[in-house]
Amino acid sequence: MNLSDIKTLDSQYFLRVFGERTPVCFVRGEGSTLYDQDGKAYTDLFAGIAVNSLGYNHPAVTGALIAQAQAGVLHTSNIYYVQPQAELAELLCKNTFADRVFFSNSGAEANEGAMKLACKYFYAQGSKRYKIISADHSFHGRTLATVAATGHDYYQEPFRALLPKGFMQVPYNDLDALKNAIDEETAAIMLEPMQGEGGVTPADAQYLRDVRALCDAQGILLILDEVQTGVCRTGSLYCYQQYGVTPDIMTSAKGLGCGFPIGAILATENVASKISRGDHGSTFGGNTLACAVSLSAMRFMIDNDFSAAAKEKGAYLMNALKAIDSDKILEVRGMGMLIGLQLPSDYPAGQLSAKLLKRGFVAGTASGNVLRLAPPLVISYEEMDAFIAALKDALAE
Ligand SMILES: Cc1ncc(COP(=O)(O)O)c(C=O)c1O
Repeated sequence: MNLSDIKTLDSQYFLRVFGERTPVCFVRGEGSTLYDQDGKAYTDLFAGIAVNSLGYNHPAVTGALIAQAQAGVLHTSNIYYVQPQAELAELLCKNTFADRVFFSNSGAEANEGAMKLACKYFYAQGSKRYKIISADHSFHGRTLATVAATGHDYYQEPFRALLPKGFMQVPYNDLDALKNAIDEETAAIMLEPMQGEGGVTPADAQYLRDVRALCDAQGILLILDEVQTGVCRTGSLYCYQQYGVTPDIMTSAKGLGCGFPIGAILATENVASKISRGDHGSTFGGNTLACAVSLSAMRFMIDNDFSAAAKEKGAYLMNALKAIDSDKILEVRGMGMLIGLQLPSDYPAGQLSAKLLKRGFVAGTASGNVLRLAPPLVISYEEMDAFIAALKDALAE
């Protein structure tokens, strides 16, 4: 099948939620390189939206996938014990603040569960707290509750009638706005330590510390959504670790499975102790295959200090980007290997990413006219140099 055949099928049968897609279909990958149907190679600096941290066909992912498939058990249900699930839960707890973990299939599902945990935490104590405050320009997912928590009118407007109550958003990095929004029914504040979809905007360090102090003072829970920032990407296993701020609940997904769908809710024992049998569950969440792949990938990344690699490579890329002399780049921001280039409003990020694709480089965009880079963490310095050269060329076109 060629690309035009696929486009025809897609436009005839697939729900039009992705509109006109980027005109390429990748069929093979190796390291940080993707290949389309004609065998054209592309260096990837987006990793399937910050997912494929180990790139393509990495033995820690492919090997675990094949081994588990050959064992013949992909899924048994959560009625029974699941060995890689138990081991992955231990690995996450030993490397984070968390005491307990629950696995989901996606980031949105993890966030739904996180909000349920917060609600149940107070319900179990006879408290009337249930409301969730999140930030403008945040992104937490596409389910009804996560859309209600997502700070973009665009996502909420058509579904307003169905959105659950109890959600509100305030400006990001604005402590006073948060203080003013809290009332006696507030259960949790939910934030990304760095907004990804919203434009690659890191939280101010003092802001996050002040939010933690505010939560402590008011008896409110802090939920950090690390779906995009987690799993070594920003230069530490989870981004919160660089802020010196510990959440009560945290969510993870994307890089957690390095391409295999899996999400996680991580919680302190204080929160987890209020959760009882039947409060939450999932048929597929935490299934054998997803956990086996994630366990293998996570062990590999932790054992080989991919956090340090992300920090070093990210600093290199960031410096190279900042050194580009172009009036089209207004700002370069981010942490580790999650970097945004702020472009002027008359130079659409989508246009620049199309020019890069033509030159054999995959980059993404984020809202606010930002070119978003989230390369596989295995990318080489030579590949990053080649990208910088292509970017300069594209900017000069
Ligand atoms: C911070 C954040 N939270 C949640 C989600 C939703 O994750 P998923 O698409 O896996 O449901 C995303 C996806 O981009 C995200 O960036």
